[in-house]
Amino acid sequence: MPISFDSEKKIFKLDTSDSSYVMEVYEENYLVHLYYGAKIPDYNLASFKYKGDYASFSPMNINVEDDNFTPDISPLEFPAEGTGDLRESAVAIKNADGNNSTDFRYVSHRIYEGKPGITGMPALWVKDDSEATTLEILMSDDYTGVKAVLIYTVFENYSAMTRSVKIINESDKAVEIERLFSCCVDFQCCDYDMITLYGRWFKERSLNRFPISRARQGVQSKRGQSSHHHNPFGAIVDRDTNEDYGNAYGFNFVYSSNFMFNADVDTHGGTRVLMGLNPEAFGWHLEAGETFEAPEVVMVYSGKGLGEMSRTFHKLYSNHLIRGKWADIKRPLLINNWEATGMDFTGDKLVSFAERAKELGIDMLVMDDGWFGHRDDDTSSLGDWDVNEEKLGGPLKDFVAKINALGLKFGIWYEPEMISRDSNLYREHPDWCIHVPGREKSVGRHQYIIDFGRKEVRDYIYSKMYTVLSECNIDYVKWDFNRCMTEPGSAGLPPERQKEAAHRAILGAYEIMDRLTKDFPHILLENCSGGGGRFDPGMLYYSPQIWTSDCTDPIERLSIQFGTSICYPASTMGAHVSASKRAGFKTKGDIALWGTFGYELDPNKFTQEDAELVKEQVKEYHKYYDIIHKGDLYRLITPDTNDYRCAWMFVTENKNEALLTSVTIKINRDRSYYLKLKGLDPEKYYVDDESGEVYSGALLMNAGLNLSDYPSYDGDSFKIYFRAL
Ligand code: DGJ
Repeated sequence: MPISFDSEKKIFKLDTSDSSYVMEVYEENYLVHLYYGAKIPDYNLASFKYKGDYASFSPMNINVEDDNFTPDISPLEFPAEGTGDLRESAVAIKNADGNNSTDFRYVSHRIYEGKPGITGMPALWVKDDSEATTLEILMSDDYTGVKAVLIYTVFENYSAMTRSVKIINESDKAVEIERLFSCCVDFQCCDYDMITLYGRWFKERSLNRFPISRARQGVQSKRGQSSHHHNPFGAIVDRDTNEDYGNAYGFNFVYSSNFMFNADVDTHGGTRVLMGLNPEAFGWHLEAGETFEAPEVVMVYSGKGLGEMSRTFHKLYSNHLIRGKWADIKRPLLINNWEATGMDFTGDKLVSFAERAKELGIDMLVMDDGWFGHRDDDTSSLGDWDVNEEKLGGPLKDFVAKINALGLKFGIWYEPEMISRDSNLYREHPDWCIHVPGREKSVGRHQYIIDFGRKEVRDYIYSKMYTVLSECNIDYVKWDFNRCMTEPGSAGLPPERQKEAAHRAILGAYEIMDRLTKDFPHILLENCSGGGGRFDPGMLYYSPQIWTSDCTDPIERLSIQFGTSICYPASTMGAHVSASKRAGFKTKGDIALWGTFGYELDPNKFTQEDAELVKEQVKEYHKYYDIIHKGDLYRLITPDTNDYRCAWMFVTENKNEALLTSVTIKINRDRSYYLKLKGLDPEKYYVDDESGEVYSGALLMNAGLNLSDYPSYDGDSFKIYFRAL
């Protein structure tokens, strides 16, 4: 059993393929963290216990006999606010007496096969209960009668586990949850680096690595979206950890709204890592008898560097997060009209796109923003989801039929969570947006966020979508979200629940995505938020792919895609060739091939040479699909370590096929470069079909591939497909 409890020593041990996580129920039922890291045997686990260092300013519990134990220094699993631990807390509950002094102690536990879901929320899943084992620990705050259930699920084959928490108000009075982190890990060391993914619109998820020091440090979003600025991902790594070596602990929050990831390094040299709902932008009023379920955190441990950590996330998400028909089958290669036309298009123009696209081997046309209401620019019509028949030259159904008759599938754009100031819906229901009554509302792109926390709002929007999706032959929906949340409040909530508005809004969005994917299981849903403003595991639960960034400049895309790959698989990254000028068509194609692949330009403007290249790229998309979407990613040269060249490769699980891609950013006139490949079998021999050259895996990985004869001028790229003999 991957989870065990030694009832004599009162020690829990959670094992995965490569890691162990150990906790102890200590005196007075404190749940104490003992260890997280490389897998260890079940032997003398209690020896890890932090013996502490009593200091006169450390609060003590007089009932604990151990003089060295103080909650303020000990590693705790679920540290609470306003009692003996004065570091950053994982939970704070304001009780009916008005104070927020909170203290949870162990009561009981249960271990079972399988994994529970989280009501109304995305979460990792198992097909069969044998794929995971769960530990639920019941904790109680006896003073208030409030209970907490800490939920740990171990994916034994993956070096991964998930954690979440439930608060159950078993008292007879209402309480307020003021903070609730889904995961807290007290590392007993402080010499770590933190890695986060920072960015902004057009430059999402660049790698940020810095040494943590004796302070509180981390990232957050209070934008009502997981955000372009900081992704809900964070890693704690040893100072010498690199791509292939060293300990790496990755944390990823399965949530698409306000989050916080913090490391609180205490003055005794411990590091408390917390991830969960952002306490600065969250609060929950819990009536007697009610339960609140927090979203879950995925934790991956790698003892072999960041590359292995990423590959574990990729496999875990491919097999236990992404769902539905499109999880396993080949996605259509699409052309989207946004960058070519903006909202200035007609039905005829799009038909001409489809005709040309068909000749080139493209599978689907996606009609982006501008097909509804009177939306010719971004100032109007969100919420008025009625087809602009004048623009399309007739009913949508007929237009879709024309595209289908050409042999193409059809996809459509929506932004269901928004309402334009200039819309009939807003004129009719000005209180249907997220706002604070009486306070000025900030606008973003001339629009407000619609209040999806309200059922009547959700039902109205979904019924409008349902009509279109059920009447027309639609195979794909791009679900966009183009502003961040301000003045978070709801006209549908009483004063004591106003801090719930943002969380309720995202739960509402999840509900609609759930309904859409259940009612239309054939539809491929692609999420988007002004590019990658909601590129998170929460969204991946509903949509297997997400538009990675509005930036389609291939060179900029390198750092965006490398950063995104830290935890998200290639199959999830929307990547298109656009008209962007910074590199040639071939290089743009080679970089976009790393993701879901498609085009974002006017196909009627292709030169003959471009058109030939498109045909070639379409062939390559099919040829390499399985290697890229199902293979293991090895980052060889990353943009944060090298200004001249980036290189990466995918290797199939059986190590019989590999695809190497290299892009020259700036010409480097140093001596010829030897690129050491990774992930191959050293015992196997690989042929490069194009040149006929045969290499041993050992040579390619140890001596490297001699790049002297490959294109190496600014913006050049090349790919090599290796096949084992
Ligand atoms: C932002 C998206 O990222 C773009 O691809 C496009 O769909 C626009 N919104 C449309 O308004």
